[in-house]
Amino acid sequence: MDRNDAGEPRLRPAEPADHDRIVAVLDDWWGRPISAGLPRLFLDHFHRTSLVAEDGDGLAGFLVGILSPSAPGLAYVHFVGVAPRLRGGGLARRLYRRFFALAVADGRERVRAITSPVNGASIAFHAAMGFTVTGPVPDYDGPGVDRVVFELRLPPR
Ligand SMILES: CC(C)(COP(=O)(O)OP(=O)(O)OC[C@H]1O[C@@H](n2cnc3c(N)ncnc32)[C@H](O)[C@@H]1OP(=O)(O)O)[C@@H](O)C(=O)NCCC(=O)NCCS
Repeated sequence: MDRNDAGEPRLRPAEPADHDRIVAVLDDWWGRPISAGLPRLFLDHFHRTSLVAEDGDGLAGFLVGILSPSAPGLAYVHFVGVAPRLRGGGLARRLYRRFFALAVADGRERVRAITSPVNGASIAFHAAMGFTVTGPVPDYDGPGVDRVVFELRLPPR
């Protein structure tokens, strides 16, 4: 149930109502309070470029992505998360690849994401996916809020 032929969780476009189930697991999946970083507006206004993964046990993972309305060549991943029970199995890679395809189809040339310097898993994941890793950039998100910046060049459409 809710697995594809290879027995993997199924991916689908997100819907606004997914916010409730995503926000319910965020702090647990991240291991620290993070849910304030994903207000409802992201699912209300960017669900068409966001993805949900599900299997028979429920929410397996998600990606909140944006095709920047202001920077024409740029796509941006705001959050990606995989249920702890499924980590290390390639689900985040599948979510990213699906988002890359969507971004390329829209003519985007680069994907960017950021993370907190304490998030070693995120830094390792993005490096493994081929992103350049810059930083920590001091004060990136305001005084004292340093961030690591990731960027990947997409193949042409
Ligand atoms: C980061 C996260 C999304 C990775 O999800 P995942 O499904 O386990 O990742 P994948 O299995 O698709 O891994 C893809 C690649 O990244 C590497 N990778 C993923 N997590 C890693 C970790 N913690 N340490 C080292 N490498 C890691 C894998 O080894 C793999 O590389 P490979 O193919 O060269 O072996 C997951 O750990 C998570 O949800 N963490 C909490 C939320 C979070 O911090 N999100 C990111 C910031 S928004």
